[in-house]
Amino acid sequence: MVAAGRGGQGYLPCLLLSCLSYYLVLPPACLQPSPPPPNIVFILADDLGWNDVSFHGSEIKTPNLDKLLAQGVLLDNYYIQPLCTPSRSQLMTGRYQIHLGLQHEVIYPCQPSCIPLKEKLLPELMKEAGYSTHMVGKWHLGFYRKDCLPTRRGFDTYFGYLVGAEDYYTHQRCYFIKKLNVTRCALDFRDGEEVATGFNNIYSTNIFTQRTIDVITKHQPEKPLFLYLAYQSVHAPLQVPEEYEEPYRFIEDKKRRTYAAMVSVLDEAVGNVTAALKMYGLWENTVLIFSTDNGGQTLEGANNWPLRGRKWTLWEGGVRGVGFVTSPLLKQKGVVSRELIHISDWLPTLVCLAGGVINGTKPLDGFNVWKTISEGIPSPRVELLHNIDPLFEDTSPCPGKNSTTPVSKVQPFVWNESVFNISIHAAIRYKNWKLLTGYPGCSHWFPPPPMSDHYSKSLSLDEAAKNLWLFDIVQDPQERNDLSEKYPRIVKKLLSRLEYYQTHSVPVIFPDEDPRCDPEVIGAWGPWA
Ligand SMILES: *[C@@H]1O[C@H](CO)[C@@H](O)[C@H](O)[C@H]1NC(C)=O
Ligand SMILES: *[C@@H]1O[C@H](CO)[C@@H](O)[C@H](O)[C@H]1NC(C)=O
Ligand SMILES: *[C@@H]1O[C@H](CO)[C@@H](O)[C@H](O)[C@H]1NC(C)=O
Ligand SMILES: *[C@@H]1O[C@H](CO)[C@@H](O)[C@H](O)[C@H]1NC(C)=O
Ligand SMILES: *[C@@H]1O[C@H](CO)[C@@H](O)[C@H](O)[C@H]1NC(C)=O
Ligand SMILES: *[C@@H]1O[C@H](CO)[C@@H](O)[C@H](O)[C@H]1NC(C)=O
Repeated sequence: MVAAGRGGQGYLPCLLLSCLSYYLVLPPACLQPSPPPPNIVFILADDLGWNDVSFHGSEIKTPNLDKLLAQGVLLDNYYIQPLCTPSRSQLMTGRYQIHLGLQHEVIYPCQPSCIPLKEKLLPELMKEAGYSTHMVGKWHLGFYRKDCLPTRRGFDTYFGYLVGAEDYYTHQRCYFIKKLNVTRCALDFRDGEEVATGFNNIYSTNIFTQRTIDVITKHQPEKPLFLYLAYQSVHAPLQVPEEYEEPYRFIEDKKRRTYAAMVSVLDEAVGNVTAALKMYGLWENTVLIFSTDNGGQTLEGANNWPLRGRKWTLWEGGVRGVGFVTSPLLKQKGVVSRELIHISDWLPTLVCLAGGVINGTKPLDGFNVWKTISEGIPSPRVELLHNIDPLFEDTSPCPGKNSTTPVSKVQPFVWNESVFNISIHAAIRYKNWKLLTGYPGCSHWFPPPPMSDHYSKSLSLDEAAKNLWLFDIVQDPQERNDLSEKYPRIVKKLLSRLEYYQTHSVPVIFPDEDPRCDPEVIGAWGPWA
């Protein structure tokens, strides 16, 4: 058993002298919780982009989020993963994708895969700390066996859907099963482990909000509450009750207009949940975290301007996320934190805040950042591995690119004695420095539709064969000024860190689809093995 708050195995076996600073970052001590332990509510938005909330200057209005933020801490240097399954798996395990085998894409409906069953998840630790644990919304962490379901991984109750995307009203997912050569459309909605019917034609954000309010209403205050609310909003398909589009009639682009309305429903939903927490007397002792799971998908109405790239990419538009923490328990409020924080940090942070212990997990990559958020002390995190994915492909349309990812002609490439193959899609951050290798994904800056005349400033002019970039993210958050030639020693140091992580990666788990997933048999997507 290890005391909570330990983390960041990454700094341990660093051999270079210049990496000495890794040794000097000592794991923070666990806070003594002030009794009683706080309720913890984690709200995860899906595909919400950097430029899609009013507090980042968007034309989209988020008054409820703004109000919560006014009493909270804005996380300005906060990172998530560029895709759904990776972010959610790191939230649940506190571990990097390279340590889970989930470094490549997402878990698709017919893949016999889920977060490895030997991993101990955040809700299990919260349960051991005495919490009642509830989840509402999108799982997307695998479901081929019953053992993979949220109710078998630490949640007392679950209501939601298991796949990555579906219709907001019918709650059906259509998916082409290659081995059967058929497209199947079937329900994906569950209450606990049972298929939930009777919700046809009701918008999912309303259903999930109502279910969350039910959980809050029924909650027995003898136990603290851990609530993980993973909304479908604002992922594609672009669907919304019509009246929410009214205030956005000024947006000419149809996708952007519908998307803006979807953000408004999400904002209202968060307002309703916090109102219920207040009404039932839980708020004064609640810590609420709001986070997106990845950058916005510009092909589906979202926007990350002025950041580069989008969902699926390792550019800042894919990995720098909207996030804040709000709570009457924070020591500092109404402030912006510019400290480096990552989605893998929530597990040690929340278990520690809960007065729990990190018992039975594998070595964590996350750090306890509670004092950083609550008191403003420097973050214990100085390094962040964004990902290493040797199989990466970005198949979504990207201006000027073919549908297949160009592979660099310069390979194998040894960069001044580094053995890391820089044709591989990878990125790492160390303090202000970020190094990217391989093809990071669609490389343009996507202006929001009303600003499409900015296009001249938006196209990436990098050569197709380019596969190494170094940026000073603090000075250049838009990743416009590649410094790799100017600072070869920093490039070399970061390549050696990538090489270290690469040699400590587990193999990619990305199994072939299993045609037994066919939902025709039970009439709904669900476990088959
Ligand atoms: C530690 O984990 C083990 C296995 O998961 C469990 O049986 C035990 O009760 C846990 N200990 C505490 C103190 O929670
Ligand atoms: C798949 O089905 C379509 C029609 O549904 C058919 O035209 C096609 O030949 C089939 N492909 C294979 C490989 O069986
Ligand atoms: C929020 O609550 C109001 C009042 O009960 C309700 O009309 C609205 O539909 C709720 N919004 C969501 C997204 O659940
Ligand atoms: C796609 O790639 C091929 C081969 O590299 C090239 O000939 C063609 O012009 C490319 N098409 C576009 C639209 O870039
Ligand atoms: C380098 O990585 C690329 C992309 O993953 C791969 O195609 C190539 O085979 C690798 N080269 C070597 C020498 O490992
Ligand atoms: C390669 O590394 C050596 C020693 O670190 C350094 O002296 C040399 O300038 C580097 N070469 C390049 C091209 O960066």
